[in-house]
Amino acid sequence: MPATIVLGAQWGDEGKAKVVDYLTRDADIVARFQGGANAGHTVQVGDTQFIFHLIPSGIMHPGKSCVVGNGVVLDPEAAITEIEDLAAKGISVEGRLFISQNAHVVMPYHKLFDRLGEERQGTDKLGTTGRGIGPAYRDKVERTWGIRVMDLLDEPLLQTRVAAVVEEKNRVLTRLYDHAPLDAADIIRGAVEYGQRLRMYVTDTSQLLNDALSAGKNILLEGAQGTLLDIDHGTYPFVTSSNTTAGGACTGAGIGPTRIDAVIGVTKAYTTRVGNGPFPTELTGTTGERIRELGHEYGATTGRPRRCGWFDAVIVRLAARVNGLTSLALTRLDVLDTVEKLKVCIAYRRGGDVLEEFPGDPQVLGECRPVYEEWDGWCTSTRDVRRYADLPPQARDYVERLSALSRTPVQMISVGPERDATIIMD
Ligand code: IMP
Repeated sequence: MPATIVLGAQWGDEGKAKVVDYLTRDADIVARFQGGANAGHTVQVGDTQFIFHLIPSGIMHPGKSCVVGNGVVLDPEAAITEIEDLAAKGISVEGRLFISQNAHVVMPYHKLFDRLGEERQGTDKLGTTGRGIGPAYRDKVERTWGIRVMDLLDEPLLQTRVAAVVEEKNRVLTRLYDHAPLDAADIIRGAVEYGQRLRMYVTDTSQLLNDALSAGKNILLEGAQGTLLDIDHGTYPFVTSSNTTAGGACTGAGIGPTRIDAVIGVTKAYTTRVGNGPFPTELTGTTGERIRELGHEYGATTGRPRRCGWFDAVIVRLAARVNGLTSLALTRLDVLDTVEKLKVCIAYRRGGDVLEEFPGDPQVLGECRPVYEEWDGWCTSTRDVRRYADLPPQARDYVERLSALSRTPVQMISVGPERDATIIMD
């Protein structure tokens, strides 16, 4: 393994946490490198379901260390809640959770601006998770107003800096949004308290990760969201505000690309999306509803119903290209167990042209229609299958076709939420 990236090859919610959970057996450290509490990573252990928003899902494994990297925007309130929830379930993070001092902090006003900004956009809104992600990254890139985790540890600095930031934010709030001003003292008090609560976890995580690699340790880099939500390569502007792709893993963890050995793209056997934006293979009728119910396709963070559609090989080919995928982990094959006829989008048609590669221009994409191949379903349960050879022939044909169309070998197939409901390819 030494350093393996696991990331989403679609619009997020591909089942990355299950794949990370499985691979954590061979890892020493699991690290998040981008995004924030907008993620909802679900892991099923026995009858208990754990949903992680910020802390890497590897924390479930005793003795494994977890890192929240510099590329993450950290909501301290969400982090503390997660630490407390884990403690209540008997899982201690002490001595094995490390938070980057360089990570930017999601402040209360970021969440407020996320909500107000969306309200202002009306029907043109992005459909964000409301977790303050865009406003926090905006302040990071804008450079004047960003607060970093290291700042939370410096009370005198917080007193002056947060006061100045809140003054500026209040100008925008009152004049542009006609909203009551925020109380700077309240926000400073909260920030100081968060710093005290989180101090023990804060360190230089780039140093930690590189030292670990040099010592021969194995690291899993756990992506959040998915390739089509990447700020550069996704369906802009209907994307998140970070680089969800493999390059983002290097910058967001502080690891050079020469240290990465493998990039695993996680994809469902069909496609889903939450929030607004283009989705060429979306099924708006009863088949889409059926897949939603079969797959319990509701957001782990917001509870919103996910939009469902057929597998789109064009988007997974984009993911293979921009991430340099070395393999695919195919999840939720079992959700299709009772679907009699399956469709796979192999290309897009635009007027008289057939496009095999994903068009970056949203206007072109809007004019594209999927070109489908139809496949017979297997109509039998795959939930108990543990060896590839034991899958029904139609399911094997389907998997092999998806792999060929994606130009990437399948390394792992998931046939249920449980850890052992997994098929590893030879
Ligand atoms: P934001 O990241 O909250 O700003 O939301 C931007 C877009 O990314 C919206 O369409 C969200 O629904 C989507 N999004 C953000 N996080 C996730 C996720 O973890 N899974 C799926 N979609 C997400």
